[in-house]
Amino acid sequence: MEIEFRSLSKQFEDHKDVLLPMDFAGDVHALAVIGPSGGGKSTLLRILGGLIAPTAGQVWIGGEKVCYEGAAVEAHRKKIGYVFQLGGLFKHMSAIDNIVTPLIRVHGFSKEQARARADELLGRFGLLTEANKKPAALSGGQQQRVAIARAISAKPKLLLLDEPTSALDPEYTTEVLGIIRELKEERLDFVIVTHEMGFARHACEKVLFLAEGQLLEYGDSDTIFQQPATYKLRSFLGKLLEWNI
Ligand SMILES: Nc1ncnc2c1ncn2[C@@H]1O[C@H](COP(=O)(O)OP(=O)(O)O)[C@@H](O)[C@H]1O
Ligand SMILES: [Mg+2]
Repeated sequence: MEIEFRSLSKQFEDHKDVLLPMDFAGDVHALAVIGPSGGGKSTLLRILGGLIAPTAGQVWIGGEKVCYEGAAVEAHRKKIGYVFQLGGLFKHMSAIDNIVTPLIRVHGFSKEQARARADELLGRFGLLTEANKKPAALSGGQQQRVAIARAISAKPKLLLLDEPTSALDPEYTTEVLGIIRELKEERLDFVIVTHEMGFARHACEKVLFLAEGQLLEYGDSDTIFQQPATYKLRSFLGKLLEWNI
């Protein structure tokens, strides 16, 4: 998926310079966005997904210019799958209804079609026995599998994941990252904000490093990790690796 943005920036009323003007163009299949917290990673992802509008600049996804107003932004959001940190499911709905309801209400599926698609995905992710449980009755790993199933249920052109494993125990993290890697093998293009450097390096082809609102580095994942060009990336990676075995 071609992603491009030009002179993209974001300021909030009470917080200026969250994203400083940045340019980017790349054909992205599996892109990891890394960087210190507060650096603007979630803000960038929200802009790509059409959840918030940039203050200035333009964005193109798959060659289509993203328009941030009215029906056009609604149409854009429909084509993008989004997975948040733990807690993104509708709490009052069962796992299956979390998938079925948006398919009917947002994507115009019939009840039967939505149910069939949800069953297919729950089966695939090993969740059929959990279908009628509410999120609170599921483990963190199961909740995130449901969230991924929901995000891909309408076959989005791009999947955006914002730290999908950061609230999970290590064994669930592995399980959820395994699913994301499988999606990559099926050529579902994704952008993931993650602190899982092993996943960024080995499962993502490209890595983008964002710090203090600046897009400081972008390149092949091996190069980014082996030859970080900026002091900030070297320092960021050094801190993360300090306690590695
Ligand atoms: N809606 C908002 N209003 C004001 N400031 C915000 C808003 N969203 C994010 N910020 C600020 O923008 C900065 C970047 O946030 P974020 O994109 O969440 O960073 P990251 O995901 O890299 O941790 C932070 O300082 C945050 O407080
Ligand atoms: Mg964030």
